[in-house]
Amino acid sequence: MNKKSNIVQQKNQPLGFDLKKIRNDFPILHQIINGKPLVYLDNAATSQKPKNVLDAIEKYYREYNSNIHRGVHTLSENATEAYELARLKVKNFINAQSNKEVIFVRGATEAINLVAQSFGRNSLNENDEIIITELEHHANIVPWQLLSEQTGATLKFIPINDNGELIIEEYKKLLSKNTKIVAVGHISNALGTINPIKTIINMAHEYEAKVLIDGAQATSHISVDVQKLDCDFYAFSGHKIFGPTGVGILYGKEVLLEKMPPYQGGGDMIKMVTMMETQYNDLPYKFEAGTPNISGAIGLGAAIDYVNEIGLENISQYENELLNYANQLASEITGLKFIGTAKQKTSILSFTLKGIHPHDIGTILNNEGIAIRTGHHCAMPVMEHFKIPATSRASFAFYNTHEEIDVLIKAIDKCKKVFN
Ligand code: ALA
Repeated sequence: MNKKSNIVQQKNQPLGFDLKKIRNDFPILHQIINGKPLVYLDNAATSQKPKNVLDAIEKYYREYNSNIHRGVHTLSENATEAYELARLKVKNFINAQSNKEVIFVRGATEAINLVAQSFGRNSLNENDEIIITELEHHANIVPWQLLSEQTGATLKFIPINDNGELIIEEYKKLLSKNTKIVAVGHISNALGTINPIKTIINMAHEYEAKVLIDGAQATSHISVDVQKLDCDFYAFSGHKIFGPTGVGILYGKEVLLEKMPPYQGGGDMIKMVTMMETQYNDLPYKFEAGTPNISGAIGLGAAIDYVNEIGLENISQYENELLNYANQLASEITGLKFIGTAKQKTSILSFTLKGIHPHDIGTILNNEGIAIRTGHHCAMPVMEHFKIPATSRASFAFYNTHEEIDVLIKAIDKCKKVFN
């Protein structure tokens, strides 16, 4: 892709977007749903894919589909090179120290399960404690519940306040020399809260606990530097950052990954196998048993290229502007209650509308061509906190427009008219 093709420098203004050009990069956005132009506001569930990602995947299957790390033939060498180049792009994107620290997995969920089972199951016992938060997605709750059942370790939760922010004073009280793992989402998928993860990591390290950050909602909105953060593990999914489904990343500090046993056994994760024993492969291959999602990794690499070209700073700035605009208009709707009003938040408008079930809102909005998510967002403890079964959630990406927000707000108003 032509460098800087998506960026326009506006006179006397910070870098902005050529939104029209950006939207043209996403073929799926240009369609009619229920007689109306699609307004896609379900980006927290999954984001759409630009042409360069679609092209990279198609090119792999059309031109060099082949297994990696196995063949001496040209197609296999080309596939291996593209797969490892994607790893290098991820490494640079999150500023890992080495390629060995970047493991391709199925998604953030698998990354967290890998850490729970490989690191946690082999190092925790019944005297130990795991701290997570009330704000987590189920993917960052259930693996720790399983681990606690398996090892006898105690699971503790950092509570949230009514803005949907973690209460750091309570976290401080939970930490002790028994804390072995702290696992926290970078950004809440249900509310959009940006958690103060640097503080959380520093506080955990004072007790020598290891910290996993679930970055599924973060990498498409804000830049991540794992070395600056000093997190021990960082997990994210390809499909939330404009790449394909079925691929994701576990970042882990090399010194920890070295000590951890494989999560799964199979081809590619071995150096030598006899009937009696196996010598494991070096990092990162030790954790990549079997034929991986080769096209997925290549697609993720292309998605990272795309995001880099626009720049996460520009993305954050624009998305904040969109969120402020949406909040301002939504605050004028009587009966609308914001769920999640953290000071630090991004890209998510989660709300309830008095007397109307979120699923009904979702259906009416769909009739207007608008895609949002309604439900508990796989974060049932968050719903429990607010004593509601569900919210309606509009989640934004950099290809959304102010006009789309106008359409959303008008449609929310229409819900009220239909039900009153
Ligand atoms: N975790 C995804 C969401 O928040 C599926 O919608």
